[in-house]
Amino acid sequence: MRELQRWLGDNPQFEQNMAFLEDFQYLMMCYRSSIKEVKTKLEILADELSLQKKRSPIHSIESRIKKPKSIGEKLIKRGKTISIDNIRNELNDVAGIRVTCSYVDDVYDIVNMLVSQDDVELIRTKDYIKNPKESGYRSLHIIVAIPIFLSEKSEIFRIEIQIRTIAMDFWASLEHSLRYKGDVPPVAFKKLEDAATNISKMEDQMLTIRKYIEE
Ligand code: GTP
Ligand code: MG
Repeated sequence: MRELQRWLGDNPQFEQNMAFLEDFQYLMMCYRSSIKEVKTKLEILADELSLQKKRSPIHSIESRIKKPKSIGEKLIKRGKTISIDNIRNELNDVAGIRVTCSYVDDVYDIVNMLVSQDDVELIRTKDYIKNPKESGYRSLHIIVAIPIFLSEKSEIFRIEIQIRTIAMDFWASLEHSLRYKGDVPPVAFKKLEDAATNISKMEDQMLTIRKYIEE
């Protein structure tokens, strides 16, 4: 045992790896905290809007931290080395939140309310609702930067938020699991895109119905 301890202590590679692992663990704790911050903001908006509108614009909020393997693979794919700085500077989606809303107008309302908060900085928007992907995928993606308050400092972290309707989420999760089963033949690709278009039409109908009832 003492032999092992001596060997570990004398091994600079081991020291380096341990230092990296500890920094990595700390960084992931920071990303988890950034998720908690944004989640709380969304929950407060959901509570207030439920009272005001007498319905819930936010249906669900899910979150995840990117797995170490996916972090490593993404950096390598971009020709970057795996380091704490590269994780922070190169990746926007280490922390991710997915919000589902009842109607399309709720998606934009929630995003506008969130990004107008003083401590939330909007870094990037990708609007796949206005401009759906070739696959038919619809969702609003934003990257925001928010501060987290630690024992001795505050630091800004970026986080990816995907916001879409329940119907868009239904399509995205089935399409995702189908794509993972293997190559999608062109006919199925077209059918999936048709299904996304139909879902979008159905959502417009539901929005019209809601407006008839509310007015
Ligand atoms: P990457 O995250 O590296 O892919 O780049 P990016 O952030 O520029 O891409 P994008 O904004 O398109 O977001 C990628 C994420 O959106 C993916 O991780 C999926 O969660 C989702 N996504 C994008 N396209 C599709 C699609 O066609 N189908 C489904 N189901 N999800 C998609
Ligand atoms: Mg991404």
